[in-house]
Amino acid sequence: MHPVPPGPSSSRQELLKFAKDPLTYFLELTATYGEIVYTRIGSRETYVITHPDALREILVEQSDKFEKTGHTKDSASTFMGEGLLVTAGAIHKRQRRTIQPLFTPAWVQSYAQTMISDATAVVDSWKDGETRDIAADMMKLALNIVSKTVFGASGVDKSTEFARATAVMQQYTDDTLRRSKLVSVTEEQCQEAVAVMEDLVTEVLMHRTQSNRHDLVSLLSAAVDPETHHTMSDKEIRDHALTLLIAGHETTANALAWTWYLLAKHPQVKTRLREEIERTCGAGLPTVDQLTELRYTEMVLKESLRLYPPAWLLGRTPIEPVTVAGYTINPQANIVISPFVIHRNPRYFVDPDNFIPERFTKEPRRYTYLPFGAGPHACIGQPFAMLELTFVLVTLMQKADLTIPDDYIAQPEPMMTLRPKGGLRMIVSKRSTKRSSQQYGRPADTAAM
Ligand code: HEM
Repeated sequence: MHPVPPGPSSSRQELLKFAKDPLTYFLELTATYGEIVYTRIGSRETYVITHPDALREILVEQSDKFEKTGHTKDSASTFMGEGLLVTAGAIHKRQRRTIQPLFTPAWVQSYAQTMISDATAVVDSWKDGETRDIAADMMKLALNIVSKTVFGASGVDKSTEFARATAVMQQYTDDTLRRSKLVSVTEEQCQEAVAVMEDLVTEVLMHRTQSNRHDLVSLLSAAVDPETHHTMSDKEIRDHALTLLIAGHETTANALAWTWYLLAKHPQVKTRLREEIERTCGAGLPTVDQLTELRYTEMVLKESLRLYPPAWLLGRTPIEPVTVAGYTINPQANIVISPFVIHRNPRYFVDPDNFIPERFTKEPRRYTYLPFGAGPHACIGQPFAMLELTFVLVTLMQKADLTIPDDYIAQPEPMMTLRPKGGLRMIVSKRSTKRSSQQYGRPADTAAM
């Protein structure tokens, strides 16, 4: 029988500290007790694990012995049914086998022009000198982009209805995460939101045979499991469509918001970034061919994802007794894997609380940098997200500068994703750029037009 790992004893106090500020609570536990901590949050046995070897065991080597933690499953399944974010084991394997091949580099890159033109529309709508909630702008932008990807043009035609339904979903998942008694979304609102989404899926499915469609709903409806030759039912397509929509926009939006915040706080980084963008793209729109030259841009984004990983908490629960790092963990125990805490460990990142993009000239040690997770459940949308982050950042940087007052400190709010609490009010300065038609890189794609 193995002993339990070190950790604090009083369970009520732990619950209070956790409820007040989960980020600080997990950081302090790790700093005090080490990289494998045992505690009880309420009545639930909880392991806070940040050691890279143990993370490899859980996320990769023994991933079959775990499922997602209750709150992820509960909140996600209300809207996303049996989508990738919720399933485990053989079902998840089959789903991933069928869906992964859709995310080819060519398919991802076919949305480059959509990302750039949507970002251009956003920055063109800004007025010089105004103060805006940039977090809200990034949310709208990312939702627009991902809805074109998932639904094609139809998602955009109904953008108001659609944005409202998505807001209900976000609020519901946040409520569930906090296990709030003051639930702000009613059962009826949830049902309405699901109905809006289902109508969209149905509409796209009706037009799926049009040959130029390459939105995800159309692709999912044609996808075949290479091993079993199983094709998806309309219910499965709907579940995956909503999963991709939800997983694919709030994360990206928050990553962008945090990047603007960090750049505003670090003008010398912003200057170096601007120099790279000007040197590589001039005043023209970025192109896929330039990606390898945008090295510093990539480092800035990686460093922003290190300090403020939007997926700040990956929860797991063993489905059978499992041994990790020599400790036996019981089924139903809660395993907290927090990229936010792992990324701030001074053992793995020098000066961990500071924004230093240059640290990414070297790859971090494996399983110490997990903004997109690892193993069979790692983010399927990572290449899409990195392309979107890069093109949105470059496009907006070319046309505007965003600043915040010196004394403004954004607080991270750990909800379903990690977002700046209360939004992010920034001051816009427009930059004048002249583009000729030749500077528009590759011809516009046909994505969901
Ligand atoms: C900066 C943006 C993003 C971040 C930080 C992010 C992060 C993550 C992380 C950490 C996971 C693993 C969760 C776990 O192990 O419990 C994940 C899974 C997932 N992500 Fe992302 N994601 C991003 C963008 C996207 C996009 C754009 C899409 C889709 C277009 C997407 C779709 C998914 C899906 C479907 C899963 C579940 C994969 C599975 O379990 O097989 N994500 N994401």
